Amino acid sequence: MAEAPLILDDRFAEHPEEIRAAAALFADELVRSWAAAAEAPIHPETVPADFAELAAQEPPAQGIPLPRLLDDLRRLVLPGTTRVTSPRYLGMMNPAPALAAVLAESLAAALNQNCSLWHQSPAAAELERLVVRWLCGFAGLPAPPAFGVLLSGGSMANITALKLARDRCLGPAARAAGLAGAPPAAVYASTEAHYSFDKGVDLLGLGADNLRRAPVDAAFRVDVPALRAMIRADAARGVRAACVVGIAGTTNTGTLDDLAALADVAAEAGAWFHVDAAYGGAALLLPELADRFRGLARADSVTLDPHKWFFVPFECAALLVRRRDDLRAAFATRPPYYLEQGRGGDDGRVNFFEYGLQGSRSFRALKLWLALRSFGLDAYRRLVRRHCAFARRFHELLEAAGGFEPFHRPELGLLCFRAVPAGGADGDAANALNRRIHRRVELEGRFWISITRLRDGDVALRVNFMNYRTRPEDVETLGRYLIDLRNEEMAR
Ligand SMILES: Cc1ncc(COP(=O)(O)O)c(C=O)c1O
Repeated sequence: MAEAPLILDDRFAEHPEEIRAAAALFADELVRSWAAAAEAPIHPETVPADFAELAAQEPPAQGIPLPRLLDDLRRLVLPGTTRVTSPRYLGMMNPAPALAAVLAESLAAALNQNCSLWHQSPAAAELERLVVRWLCGFAGLPAPPAFGVLLSGGSMANITALKLARDRCLGPAARAAGLAGAPPAAVYASTEAHYSFDKGVDLLGLGADNLRRAPVDAAFRVDVPALRAMIRADAARGVRAACVVGIAGTTNTGTLDDLAALADVAAEAGAWFHVDAAYGGAALLLPELADRFRGLARADSVTLDPHKWFFVPFECAALLVRRRDDLRAAFATRPPYYLEQGRGGDDGRVNFFEYGLQGSRSFRALKLWLALRSFGLDAYRRLVRRHCAFARRFHELLEAAGGFEPFHRPELGLLCFRAVPAGGADGDAANALNRRIHRRVELEGRFWISITRLRDGDVALRVNFMNYRTRPEDVETLGRYLIDLRNEEMAR
């Protein structure tokens, strides 16, 4: 029997009409998914057993044509996705992505540039340098000498920053010989700092206990005198301050630490100053918030996540550094298989593999470049401003309604609050009520908001206005809906 012809991807060249037809099917799916996102339920009510048919699949011996694969995708995969592009998805930091960036993703895959060695991907490297320079500009870090790299997420950016801080603190001897003979070194951040710092101190051998978490005040801002006291107490015991972390927009409440005060603390202690602006970074574009970011431009490094409030699809984060050489000193290496290709002398070419942990690197800059240029900075400013106004309006609405307690005044587009039972905010009853309300919101599927814990374990409902499809009327509807839910729960 004759073997079936190999249908591999040379079809791009040989059958362009087939590629166009297949791409049109996928484009159709893309448009359909955005339209469907406006429908309930936003969150798929599902359990792992619902994926039994999918889980039982084995790789097929014979290839399956794309239209049939798309049928499978529609049946087995898409129903189990969360509709984060819904205007009423107001939950985790998962943005509705910019269309130009969505399309860029598939072009980047088709071009498949490995943005590791300049020689292999010159335009991708230059584009990354360009967008990184723009991000440095937002952060007020003059480039050059400031520089940066695109990474998979804010977590990787924070962990990479800790590596730079550790190198600065413990020097080349510890890098060469390991930490066994090195003095203990600690990282200082607030109790609201992202969990990536826990992973970082562990991974870097600093020791999980050497992430010192300072308390926060009633606005969830780090208590600077307490943090300073921790550094002093540690110094008296021979523990060096490797890094002071400031947060420009906490994950829970969107609070900005007093970055100027933390910059002073870091300078006094001789520590690296890192600012985690993974979430808040887009608000750097708003001149009216410049005062709240004061001190950020003194950072040694900054995390900024375009895959949050810049509406870039996952994954796209950046670590920005005040001095490019710090990053290169931490990661530079000269593997033989790159050495010969990488020649070119000192003509400005940047080999990104020398500036971070990753070897093969995707062409992330393309989607960021297209997102920023297709929206334009004025649109970003208007959206971020609007989202902050939504949070303030929502706060006002809940206060006026009664029966709700905001945990803080919104600084950015985030608000944590809770429904209060008729008898007052007694812990367990309030926690139970808010869990019930959250579950009903999730099950009814018209909105999706998140749930967290604050202070000593108080359950908080959390709305995150970070979605460019959300309209003012959605904010009002959510307010009325939650008020009704609370009343219904109280009447039970
Ligand atoms: C303040 C802050 N830092 C870091 C991160 C981690 O970012 P990623 O999830 O992209 O790793 C987050 C995520 O929400 C965050 O809110």
